[in-house]
Amino acid sequence: MKLWKYKSYDEYVRVQINGNASKLTNVWADESCIDYICNLARNPDGVTIKQPPQHVICHGTRNGSEQKWFIKNLPDAAVIGTEISHTANEFPNTIQHDFHVPIKEYVNKFDILYSNSLDHSYDPMKCLRTWIDQLNADGLLCIDLAQGREMISRELDPLEISSEELIDLLVNKFSLKLVERKVIDRKRGVNSELLIFKK
Ligand SMILES: C[S@@+](CC[C@H](N)C(=O)[O-])C[C@H]1O[C@@H](n2cnc3c(N)ncnc32)[C@H](O)[C@@H]1O
Repeated sequence: MKLWKYKSYDEYVRVQINGNASKLTNVWADESCIDYICNLARNPDGVTIKQPPQHVICHGTRNGSEQKWFIKNLPDAAVIGTEISHTANEFPNTIQHDFHVPIKEYVNKFDILYSNSLDHSYDPMKCLRTWIDQLNADGLLCIDLAQGREMISRELDPLEISSEELIDLLVNKFSLKLVERKVIDRKRGVNSELLIFKK
């Protein structure tokens, strides 16, 4: 695991906002990953989850593509995304918010938490604590993790962490159970790995 060091929190935010603005129309997530999570959530096979899933949160969502795909799969669910950049205001179902920071009303709320932006965390322990606390007792923590040359610690993507390191952290330090791991065949770039955990 490697972590890029910023001079200050302001520098972190500035770097993230500049990166976001320069890639605003890009979509990193693959729709097949969201479909896979929704199928698992709707037809839980040994993975109990409240039916139907009602509350979904996505962290680090740029132009909100993942919210759109969750809504397509789960039309009755309330789906929200967080995005640190002010551009959040341009996209539906998105709030401008730093995903490290807890929101009182979100604690124990969500059936599904999805993020492919863990590598943008400047403090993975704080980030994961906040995310886990946002899940209800049966909720699924779904982390879509970049791999290979897309998982390198640098100014824009401060956290470099392998699937094995993340599993070790979540199982041994946060006492979660790993319930699923799946390679996501992305249409562009390096394939990612979806890791799904439960409390
Ligand atoms: C790799 S992009 C992924 C965007 C989107 N999920 C996708 O698949 O296209 C990471 C996004 O997370 C946002 N981000 C970075 N740090 C964040 C933070 N602390 N809280 C919320 N959003 C953050 C960035 O601005 C950027 O839009």
